[in-house]
Amino acid sequence: MSAVDSTSVHPPSTSPYIGEAPPSPAGPLDSGELGLPEPPAVPLPRTLQVLRVSQRQIQFVFRWRRELGEVFRTRGVIGGGPVITSHPDHVRSLFTAKPELVPSLTAESPLLPIVGPNSVLTANGPRHLRQRKLLLPPFHGEAIERYVQMIAQASEREIDRWPVGVPFPLAPRMQAITLDVIMAGIFGIEGEPAPGTPERRLRGAVKYLAQASTWPLAQVGELMNIGRAEPVGLLRQGIAILDRCTYPVIEARRRAVDLQERTDILSLIMRAVTEDGEPLSDRELRDELLTLVLAGFETTANSLAWTWERLLRTPPAYERLREAVRSGEDAEEVVEATILEGMRSRPVIPSVGRRVAVPWRLGNYAVPAGTPVVMSILLVHHREDLYPEPFAFRPERWLGHKGGRGSRTYEWIPFGGGTRRCLGAALAMAEQRVVLEAMARRLDLEADRPEPEHAQHRNVTMIPARGARAIVRARRD
Ligand code: HEM
Repeated sequence: MSAVDSTSVHPPSTSPYIGEAPPSPAGPLDSGELGLPEPPAVPLPRTLQVLRVSQRQIQFVFRWRRELGEVFRTRGVIGGGPVITSHPDHVRSLFTAKPELVPSLTAESPLLPIVGPNSVLTANGPRHLRQRKLLLPPFHGEAIERYVQMIAQASEREIDRWPVGVPFPLAPRMQAITLDVIMAGIFGIEGEPAPGTPERRLRGAVKYLAQASTWPLAQVGELMNIGRAEPVGLLRQGIAILDRCTYPVIEARRRAVDLQERTDILSLIMRAVTEDGEPLSDRELRDELLTLVLAGFETTANSLAWTWERLLRTPPAYERLREAVRSGEDAEEVVEATILEGMRSRPVIPSVGRRVAVPWRLGNYAVPAGTPVVMSILLVHHREDLYPEPFAFRPERWLGHKGGRGSRTYEWIPFGGGTRRCLGAALAMAEQRVVLEAMARRLDLEADRPEPEHAQHRNVTMIPARGARAIVRARRD
């Protein structure tokens, strides 16, 4: 099989801030391409690289991209590499390849000790495809439309509670909204779960652990768990708390008399059977539930928090959003453009990876079978040729661009791609639209300090280090 066609077929962009990358051949190696060299390697000891990546990933990838080019080899916690690339044609070759040629690296990620090996996120091969097929319909765009009203109510409720004139971090407030939304979708409850129910206890435990994971001790716990399939130390204790709340939810739902009619995700996966006619075990259900809750709420909340962190430091962009939303003129387009730019400039998950099963070409280099190849979302999103003035926050780059993000499948990739593309993308976009609009309409916000917030790396995510602290100057009803 030859390398994928590298010519891009994009509609001409009418925005001066959206561009193209020069073509770069990529894909399974042809026999004629066997003489290609391996990518240059970062000349630092492995332990130092692991530390740098866990603490200061952004500086690390930008530095070595500058010094070694758009493809380079690192040594880290993932065995055999990984090689990092930042070219959209390389991304395309990995997203469009047959799944058996490019199993996902999530099977080896820090999430493994938390959600186990059997969830849609961590499984590979037929099991992954089966689980994904089962979960796609409830996360489809049309199904998500049903949630919009509920998301709107959750955001209005939250905004009403915020203090005026006092600085506070937006991220936990965003999490309160996104946690209620994801819990409603999974468990079929409207709004906050009722006191005394197992769902309420689970919600409390998730909230508590989300908070605890920002403590310095949790970072130690994270490092201790790198490369392990089973959790140890603090993480193990945290998971025990979650499990004590999750299993009773499963048990109660198994006994529900209306299980057959229910449309929530837990009931749906509880009714599903494998091709041998076997239902999922409690452990498998638990893995799937935790995956959806954990993959779903902090990512969306932090993505929103980042967008606000950027907006509050870019007055023209904030002014334009507020005006559009309050006047109703171009409101939808401006909200969408702001979210696209927020996710471009601060992708909450800064990279995704695949382990190539055959030798692979990446531009002028080749890597052997078995190499983990990481696509740096952060680097792709900051290519000068794709996004002129990449470090500027410019929602307007998307306003002038024909085709929107639909024509940027391999250039705008905060949700990854191919058969592993984020299952919750439609839900996450719907949540961001509703919450961003409500906040811009009802609040006058200010950053608590003029300097930008640094990124903190937690697990596989990149979040605003101070939680996107802001001050509400005025609230409208
Ligand atoms: C802004 C918010 C979000 C971002 C930035 C995000 C990003 C991502 C990324 C980068 C991946 C890996 C894709 C790949 O390897 O190609 C992923 C996978 C996944 N996400 Fe999201 N996500 C978000 C919200 C959600 C939500 C709301 C849910 C819903 C519960 C969710 C559920 C999942 C699942 C289940 C997977 C695994 C899919 C698979 O491997 O087949 N995510 N997400």
